[in-house]
Amino acid sequence: MASASSQSVYRATTTAPVNIAVIKYWGKRDTTLNLPTNSSLSVTLSQRSLRTLTTASCSAAYPPADTLNLNGSPQDIQSSKRTIACISNLRALRKALEDADSSLPKLSAHPLRIVSENNFPTAAGLASSAAGFAALVRAVADLYELPQSPKELSRIARQGSGSACRSLMGGYVAWRTGELADGSDSLAEEVAPASHWPEMRALVLVVSAEKKDVPSTEGMQTTVATSALFAERAQNVVPERMAAIETAIQNRDFHDFAEITMRDSNTFHATCLDSWPPIFYMNDVSRAAVRLVHDINRVVGRTVCAYTFDAGPNAVIYYEDKDSEVVAGTVKAILGPNTEGWDGAFYERLANVTAGVSL
Ligand code: ADP
Ligand code: DP6
Ligand code: CO
Repeated sequence: MASASSQSVYRATTTAPVNIAVIKYWGKRDTTLNLPTNSSLSVTLSQRSLRTLTTASCSAAYPPADTLNLNGSPQDIQSSKRTIACISNLRALRKALEDADSSLPKLSAHPLRIVSENNFPTAAGLASSAAGFAALVRAVADLYELPQSPKELSRIARQGSGSACRSLMGGYVAWRTGELADGSDSLAEEVAPASHWPEMRALVLVVSAEKKDVPSTEGMQTTVATSALFAERAQNVVPERMAAIETAIQNRDFHDFAEITMRDSNTFHATCLDSWPPIFYMNDVSRAAVRLVHDINRVVGRTVCAYTFDAGPNAVIYYEDKDSEVVAGTVKAILGPNTEGWDGAFYERLANVTAGVSL
């Protein structure tokens, strides 16, 4: 860290991965604190192809307002309550450190400058808000030299974007709804590290890199307000699926993991269709991927692959490395990057370490 002077610039840079849920978060019980209606569980992907790179810096010499630049464009963070919530939570933790130790530079008093870049499509249903807010929180926490654990920081990242709380950890990560009204127990926790199931792979098929018509925040609010199926899923379907998929992960039972993953993706998209007006995230190409996965499983005679779709048309297909020829080979041959309707395919392992890889 630079020696303190009124012109000193303090800086931290980090990357963060995306995570793709197998039990989807969809619906908020509290929109201010960003608390979910149901628990969710995701797989954090390696940063081989998809990652956010964020630098946070602060200086007394900066103009007074905090700024965020995303993919080269200045963002209006003053009107983004959720970005402000993340920054003010982090600043308060830094202030507490400074109050306890007067030798620390008073970084909490300096304006922040955050510069972020996603190396994959933003707002296209590939979890940019997850990697983006995880990287933002991690970068500022590193800049402020905060001692908080990833689990404690997940409470802050959650307020930026719900799914972001799960990108602070590697492997298989659950976000528990929590019960307290202040959201202090609505946190992410690791269910199993990536090393627990080294065979697991994800194939990301980009159907469209276009920005979606209905952002996740808006889409889930419409679903909560208008879908009768939504309450049924949240109350009666997800709790059993959460327990069952955690067991499948502990047992490395790909058949159960795959079936629960596919069913939950389908149920989530059914609640979108059940919203009023209906929301369509999947398109014809997405549905071709669904059919192909079922065809591969039927022809092989066992479940070797599973699809899931976030709030967008892009497919993520989970499989085990031993089946990569039949799964990735077939998918690539039929729906590969050179086939009409597909923009690209990325192969990903799971992440062992996540946000916090300081550069
Ligand atoms: P996605 O499916 O990509 O997560 P969302 O609708 O959930 O799409 O969120 C997209 C929004 O997340 C963007 O419009 C932007 O506001 C925010 N976001 C994406 N990437 C970043 C980033 N690197 N830093 C800060 N915010 C980001
Ligand atoms: C379909 O986390 O993007 O990807 O909290 O409003 O920012 P906000 O929503 P976001 O929603 C993600 C929805 C999902 C499922 C999931 O990641 O669990
Ligand atoms: Co998102």
